[in-house]
Amino acid sequence: AFVRLLLLAAGIGPLTAAQAQAQPPIVIKFSHVVATDTPKGKAADHFARRAAELTGGKVRVEVFPNSQLYRDKEEMEALQLGAVQMLAPSLSKFAPLGVKEFEVFDLPFIFDNPQELQKVTNGPVGQALLGKLETRGITGLAYWNNGFKVMSANRPLKTVADYQGLRMRIQSSKVLGAQMRALKATPQVLAFSETYAALQNGSVDGTENPPSNLYTQRMHEVQKHVSLTYHGYLGYAVVVNKRFWDGLPKDIRAALTQAMAEATQVANESASKDNQAALVAIRASGKTQIHQPSAAERAQLKAALLTVHKEMAGRIGDETIQDIYQATG
Ligand code: LMR
Repeated sequence: AFVRLLLLAAGIGPLTAAQAQAQPPIVIKFSHVVATDTPKGKAADHFARRAAELTGGKVRVEVFPNSQLYRDKEEMEALQLGAVQMLAPSLSKFAPLGVKEFEVFDLPFIFDNPQELQKVTNGPVGQALLGKLETRGITGLAYWNNGFKVMSANRPLKTVADYQGLRMRIQSSKVLGAQMRALKATPQVLAFSETYAALQNGSVDGTENPPSNLYTQRMHEVQKHVSLTYHGYLGYAVVVNKRFWDGLPKDIRAALTQAMAEATQVANESASKDNQAALVAIRASGKTQIHQPSAAERAQLKAALLTVHKEMAGRIGDETIQDIYQATG
């Protein structure tokens, strides 16, 4: 028995079932910035549950929602340093890592509908974009959808002239900056977690986001008007620390890949449902007026914003833009 103990202590010899059980689980810290009751929040929680089930408890995913752990910029750094293992930042937040091509998703009116978007994210163009993250120590696992954005402010946003002079909170994307300037508004980059306070204290006048983000952050309480412009897209790339991912045992990685596929379905199914439900709730709150743009208003907005495609081609790369046109065409 003593020899067996020695061998075990040296890591040699078979483990009994009880000893294997006693192995501490692999912990995946998954940080994100939105509420749990959103497409991303639900998908992250689903992933955590299925990862535990499919690995028989060998993996424990700890989800930290609502910028509890890190805000936008910090979470990206934390991932690269390995302080957290998984994130799902919006596609608008990857350019600061030096992968500017991701800002193609921010081009206004680049997708006419969710089907066009899916052709990109489910196809070779989407895969190639994820592949560009590898040199940054990051592996892209999936795209999660959150639908199209609406505009909000404290005055009605009907014509293009209505945006003039407004300070509009945006994510850290140069394309979104150009988009706001094309409307003669002033873009202001702010972390998601700071947006509600900035709208409340008036340091910014308005913003853009899908209705579910607007509602779950209670931005509608401090925004009197919402316009259903659906001018741009918001989606996520689920990313892991590459060294961590590559170092996982093969069977664990396979189980997590399966859990991720299921979570992706949850995100994508929740997106349109949650955004519709959020609009109903915003309307019911009586705090915000919702404007449905007329065909002419939308056409005017589109004409003003399409200029951004050309303007930003140098930054994003014309090839990437052409790839998207082709994939969606
Ligand atoms: C934002 O910053 O507006 C969004 O990216 C937040 C999110 O993760 O949906």
